[in-house]
Amino acid sequence: MNKRTFFVLLGVPGAGKGTQAKLLQERLGLPQISTGDIFRYNLKNLTELGLLAKSFMDKGELVPDEVTIRMVEDRLGQDDAAGGAILDGFPRNLIQADALDEMTADYGGISLVPLIQISDDEAMRRITGRRVCRTCGAVYHIEFNPSAKEGRCDLDGGELYQRDDDKPETVSNRLYVYYKHTSPLIGYYFAHRLLAEIDGTQGIERVQAELMSLLVESENAE
Ligand code: AP5
Ligand code: MG
Ligand code: ZN
Repeated sequence: MNKRTFFVLLGVPGAGKGTQAKLLQERLGLPQISTGDIFRYNLKNLTELGLLAKSFMDKGELVPDEVTIRMVEDRLGQDDAAGGAILDGFPRNLIQADALDEMTADYGGISLVPLIQISDDEAMRRITGRRVCRTCGAVYHIEFNPSAKEGRCDLDGGELYQRDDDKPETVSNRLYVYYKHTSPLIGYYFAHRLLAEIDGTQGIERVQAELMSLLVESENAE
């Protein structure tokens, strides 16, 4: 069997999935596949997919499964995913989880599902203070992880902006959608002995260190 490594990062909106996935990508040499980022990239380029996704994202609702699953399937087929991937924001319901099981079955399945845990209040604080680079997508927080120069990305000087769906009203619905549709995945992956819980309230470096040791452990166990 051609073994590949797939990690699925779970956690409420704002838990730090994107922040951690970007760090892991550099360390592990596996691509971060963030469905939210792919939708936003498409929207920036005004593709049909981007415009469709926007109508759901603006309300904090899930983009339809058919579209999302096909998009991930395409992305996993690209050359840089030949060794596997770090999935950030996918799957988000049991239908997507089934689809991912099928997509990865020939490669040894999912390796580990870290669940990054924070409270809803913390999620709200993180999301409302988040700023993202328009050029490279780097993620900052005005208080917890500020850029050196206000409003500018440390990596490329790009403009930092606030995501359209980061308004408090939309964030509340995103949390609701998470508990209704995504949280059942916790039980699903627990039953498959793939779940690993992490205290996401620690600093970014600490969370990263714990994630790394869990991932290395899971790879060695195989
Ligand atoms: P998506 O882009 O995936 O958003 P999300 O799941 O709501 O998650 P976030 O990106 O808000 O949070 P995060 O966990 O990545 O946190 P981050 O690292 O940025 O999805 C957006 C929308 O797209 C969805 O609502 C839906 O419409 C659609 N969509 C996406 N995937 C889909 C799918 N599979 N199916 C259907 N629809 C889909 O961190 C947050 C902030 O906290 C940052 O400011 C960061 O600097 C800060 N921070 C991070 N870690 C720490 C720390 N340890 N301490 C202090 N601050 C921290
Ligand atoms: Mg994210
Ligand atoms: Zn940047």
